[in-house]
Amino acid sequence: MEKQFSTVLSVCPILQMTLLTFSLYRFTIKSDFQLLEELVVVSSNEKVLVCRLIDRPLRPTMPKGFYYETQILSWVFSYDGIHSPDCLAITAAGIAVALSEIPNKQTIAGVRIGLINGQFVINPTTEQMENSELDLMMAGTDSAILMIEGYCDFLTEEKLLEAVEAGQVAIREICKAIDVLVQNCGKKKMVDAINLPPPELYRHVEDISGDELLKALQIKEKIPRRKALSALEEKVVTILSEQGYVSKDSSSGVTESLDVIVEDEDEDEVIVDGEVDEGDVHIKPVSRKPPCQLFAEVDVKLVFKEVSSKYLRRRIVEGGKRSDGRSPWELRPINSQCGLLPRAHGSALFTRGETQSLAVVTLGGYQMAQRIDNLVDTEESKSFYLQYSFPPSCVGEVGRIGAPSRREIGHGMLAERALEPILPPEEDFPYTIRVESTITESNGSSSMASVCGGCLALQDAGVPIKFPVAGIAMGLVLDTQEFGGNGSPLILSDITGAEDASGDMDFKVAGNESGITAFQMDIKVVGITLPVMEQALLQARGGRQHILNEMSKSSPPPSKALSRHAPLIHIMKVKPNKVNLIIGSGGKTIKSIIEETGVDAIDTGDDGTVKITARDLSSLEKSKTIIANLTMVPKVGEIYRNCEIKSIAPYGAFVEIAPGREGLCHISELSSGWLSKAEDAFKVGDRIDVKLIEINDKGQLRLSSRALLPDADSESNSKQQSSGSTNEKVPQKDNLIKMTTRRTKRKKQSEPSGAENATTKSLEKSAAAPATSQGSETATK
Ligand SMILES: *[C@@H]1O[C@H](CO)[C@@H](O)[C@H](O)[C@H]1NC(C)=O
Ligand SMILES: *[C@@H]1O[C@H](CO)[C@@H](O)[C@H](O)[C@H]1NC(C)=O
Ligand SMILES: *[C@@H]1O[C@H](CO)[C@@H](O)[C@H](O)[C@H]1NC(C)=O
Ligand SMILES: *[C@@H]1O[C@H](CO)[C@@H](O)[C@H](O)[C@H]1NC(C)=O
Repeated sequence: MEKQFSTVLSVCPILQMTLLTFSLYRFTIKSDFQLLEELVVVSSNEKVLVCRLIDRPLRPTMPKGFYYETQILSWVFSYDGIHSPDCLAITAAGIAVALSEIPNKQTIAGVRIGLINGQFVINPTTEQMENSELDLMMAGTDSAILMIEGYCDFLTEEKLLEAVEAGQVAIREICKAIDVLVQNCGKKKMVDAINLPPPELYRHVEDISGDELLKALQIKEKIPRRKALSALEEKVVTILSEQGYVSKDSSSGVTESLDVIVEDEDEDEVIVDGEVDEGDVHIKPVSRKPPCQLFAEVDVKLVFKEVSSKYLRRRIVEGGKRSDGRSPWELRPINSQCGLLPRAHGSALFTRGETQSLAVVTLGGYQMAQRIDNLVDTEESKSFYLQYSFPPSCVGEVGRIGAPSRREIGHGMLAERALEPILPPEEDFPYTIRVESTITESNGSSSMASVCGGCLALQDAGVPIKFPVAGIAMGLVLDTQEFGGNGSPLILSDITGAEDASGDMDFKVAGNESGITAFQMDIKVVGITLPVMEQALLQARGGRQHILNEMSKSSPPPSKALSRHAPLIHIMKVKPNKVNLIIGSGGKTIKSIIEETGVDAIDTGDDGTVKITARDLSSLEKSKTIIANLTMVPKVGEIYRNCEIKSIAPYGAFVEIAPGREGLCHISELSSGWLSKAEDAFKVGDRIDVKLIEINDKGQLRLSSRALLPDADSESNSKQQSSGSTNEKVPQKDNLIKMTTRRTKRKKQSEPSGAENATTKSLEKSAAAPATSQGSETATK
């Protein structure tokens, strides 16, 4: 098979370079970001998302009947760190196609729109975007919008439309500039390469298949329907051959052409071979002979496909009505159920018609965050992520499950960003949150079902979300006259798979009744105006309201409390200069605390934030106490109980009031009675209660045990003692005995395992650990 290759190299005025090669038979878009300077490998998800942004608007501008395999490669060769490359990549691809031989219908360009301080900003810098209320990507031609994708923190429909309007102006300007460029240095278009089937063939095919086709399309089950369509297609070819219309010598037949429409009907094509890079191939490889008087078999099949599509489309809105009898704004029945998985941290089953999402929320500590690489921030970690999976079984197919497809990544991102604005700030809820949405069955709008299910599952996991949100997929048929309607656009709420595939515009909106959080729109025809869009958005708002209302009836309702299986996270603040004390040299201390207490992780921040993640309360409490003690700032007058005597000198005992923090309890402060030597009454390892009575200039701590003893009566006593009176010996011993018994009793009580009890134990251990003796402010020495 002869192939044609041609390469166009186009340099975008700003910083983008796009290499375009195109060869026979296929239309795929690959984009590959490579930052040469910093050798950052952009995560494949990020790449896929940018690919989709390029792919979606470009596809509708490819002419029908153009069968050359086309590949667009996009690289970032140089990145200034200021401008985000994604919207430039769309424009660059648009320029490359415009300059090439591809007989594209119109030039496309893309922009990003931010809303900063009430002002719309076109292609804002990454820095500006940090303060933007809106992140809207848009692509279109000089006269029409083709794609919109936006994320915001509860913006109204009106604001969104204003942004779209602003974007449209900018796109128009860019497209004009590109057209000037094309006039100067564009290649001659391969108009000859467009081969449309002869028009009279449509009539022949329709004549032969007509009624049978209608019947075949009404078959509900996918496989029988596919079979019926195949058989019918075969029949059309046979009849036309018998009549002498078809030239049988046409090379390699098209076996796949039929699948395309049938597949399209189910909202989602399942990528059979699990190949991520294959992309959403809509134009299938087709080999064809130049037109002759006879019809090529290939053409017959193509026409058959188109005729079927037309019938399908007609069936969706016959007489301005939907095929399943719903009114345009009516939603399918909704049912939700929470907490159905007892061991998961949070779960919800959201069902809307025949589309169902099983959403599961898992809470984790900081170290479970997903690390992502993109061009903007080289090492960002995400503390919230949503994974969407669409297994073949949900549409009744068998297939291999491999890496997530492009489509799955795209839908997952949409649902993730729809839910992001409702999450509590990390200070309030320090968990890493992961939502998995598995589509258990699908007939349209599965990504929006993931938003609804995800929202319920978050609540079930006890995440204190700001407001509940819901998502809805909408469709639009612009010209209803064709179907016997009154001509005004028909806006369809909650579309099924078939409606998705056959409408002129489909869009997905998530949010609550007063604002939008995520928004994605693909427009397939020209002529959709802003007022139509507005009308559609308003209808979507009503739909969200209805869904939220239905979600609130979830039975059982979301538990709204942390699961007992969820890890515990405790955040404490210490003085920033104490953080190193917790970490220890080379992380020694922190490691020993983790090991000793059995917590999952301890994370420290430079600002003095300490985040402890634990599986159970007792280990959490243990590590809390150790850290508190490690970093404590002693205050005069504070009482420290059950402290170990670490060493004894003739003039007193060194008592550890916190791991690594020792103070001197002078012999005169050890007991209410007189002692000649500290060893007489105490030994190393004894535990006593002490009060901090002084911190001297050197930061040394002076402690008193006497001050806490019941019959210690003030200064006079101490003077007596230091003066060397012997009378007090006996009562002092009594005291000592009392004190010891009390201490043993407490110790005994605290032996059984449990939070508090274990705490003491761990502290003893930690006190012995060498790592803790790093405390710089030890009173002695
Ligand atoms: C999707 O739902 C519609 C409406 O309920 C129904 O007519 C259609 O047959 C369903 N499609 C599939 C593939 O089940
Ligand atoms: C919807 O979101 C807005 C935030 O823009 C909030 O003020 C409002 O209370 C939410 N409505 C409900 C019912 O939660
Ligand atoms: C320090 O540890 C002791 C036990 O050795 C405990 O009684 C005390 O409450 C701890 N101090 C702080 C501030 O947690
Ligand atoms: C630990 O011991 C104390 C007595 O000192 C007791 O009151 C408490 O219930 C115990 N804690 C646990 C969690 O068992």
